[in-house]
Amino acid sequence: MKTVTTQVVENRKISPDFFELTFSWETAWGVPVPGNFLELKVNDLTAPMLRRPFAFSAFDELNQTASMIYQVRGTSTQLLTEKKAGDSIKIIAPLGNGFTIDTDSPIIAVAGGVGLGPILFAAKEASKAGKKVTFVTGFRSTELVPDRSLWENLDAVLCTDNGSEGFAGNVVQYLSTLPESQIKESVIISCGPTPMLRACHFFAEQNGIDCEVSMEELMACGIGACMGCVCETKTESGLARVCKEGPIFKSEVIKWN
Ligand SMILES: Cc1cc2nc3c(=O)[nH]c(=O)nc-3n(C[C@H](O)[C@H](O)[C@H](O)COP(=O)(O)OP(=O)(O)OC[C@H]3O[C@@H](n4cnc5c(N)ncnc54)[C@H](O)[C@@H]3O)c2cc1C
Ligand code: FES
Repeated sequence: MKTVTTQVVENRKISPDFFELTFSWETAWGVPVPGNFLELKVNDLTAPMLRRPFAFSAFDELNQTASMIYQVRGTSTQLLTEKKAGDSIKIIAPLGNGFTIDTDSPIIAVAGGVGLGPILFAAKEASKAGKKVTFVTGFRSTELVPDRSLWENLDAVLCTDNGSEGFAGNVVQYLSTLPESQIKESVIISCGPTPMLRACHFFAEQNGIDCEVSMEELMACGIGACMGCVCETKTESGLARVCKEGPIFKSEVIKWN
C-alpha cells in the first residue's frame, strides 16, 4: 500500500453518467489485483474532506497505468469529471483483498452498475489466464450502457431492466435462464448494488455453488482504523470491516438482512 500523488492520463466519458479514469501507476507502488480498491482525494482543499473509495478496473504493467470506472454521484465524482491529462490526484492503494479467479471452475462474472469496473478487471485477468469466463452486466436501459468495446473480447451478456437492449431483465433473471449443467459446475463473482448481491447469493445457495461478493459501504479512513465501514457477518464477531477484511467476501459469510 502506498500514498502517492500521481497524474491523470485520460478521463473519458463512457456513458451519460460513467467515466473511465486512467492514471500513472508504477509497479513499485503495488500491483493491483481484481477486487482491490483505491482511496482518492480529488484536490488539496478541505472540502470534500474525505478520500473516496473506487475499485480498480485495470492495471497495464507495460504502460504503468491503472484505471477505474466511476459514476458521477456527488461532490468528489463531479469534481473528478473536470480532471484532464496531466492533472494531479492523490491516491492510497492498493487496498483490500481480491476475487478468487485462480479456480478450475468456470467463472460467471456478474456486474451491476458501478460494479462494472472490478468485474471487468476480474473477467479479463481470468480470461488471460485461460479460465472460462462468462461476463454478465446489467443496466436500467440502453441509453445508460457504457462503451460496449470495454467487454468486446469477453464472452459477454448485456442485460437491460426495460428490455431496450440485450437480455430483457436483470442479471440474476438472466442467470436463471442458464442450463443447470452450466450453473452447477460454475462459481459466481459479483459486484453491484446490494439487492443484486443478495440475489446472487441466494441464487448460488439454491444451486449449491460458491459466490463471492464485493461489498460496498460508506468509508471514512479506508485503511481499517475507524470502523466506519463494517458489515454484518455470520462470523463469531458478527462484524467485518469492508475496507480491511473485504471488500470481497464469500457471500455465505454475509448476514443478508
Ligand atoms: C470498496 C468500494 C469500491 C467502490 N468502487 C466504486 C467504483 O468502482 N466506481 C464507482 O463509481 N463507485 C465506487 N464506489 C462508490 C464510491 O465510493 C462513491 O460513489 C463515491 O464515494 C461518491 O463520492 P461523491 O463525493 O461523488 O458523492 P457523495 O457526495 O459522497 O455521495 C453522493 C451520494 O452517493 C451515496 N454514496 C456515496 N458513497 C456510497 C457508497 N459507498 N455506497 C452507497 N452509496 C454511496 C451517498 O450516500 C450520497 O447519497 C465504491 C465504494 C466502495 C466502498
Ligand atoms: S473505512 Fe475506516 S475502518 Fe473501514
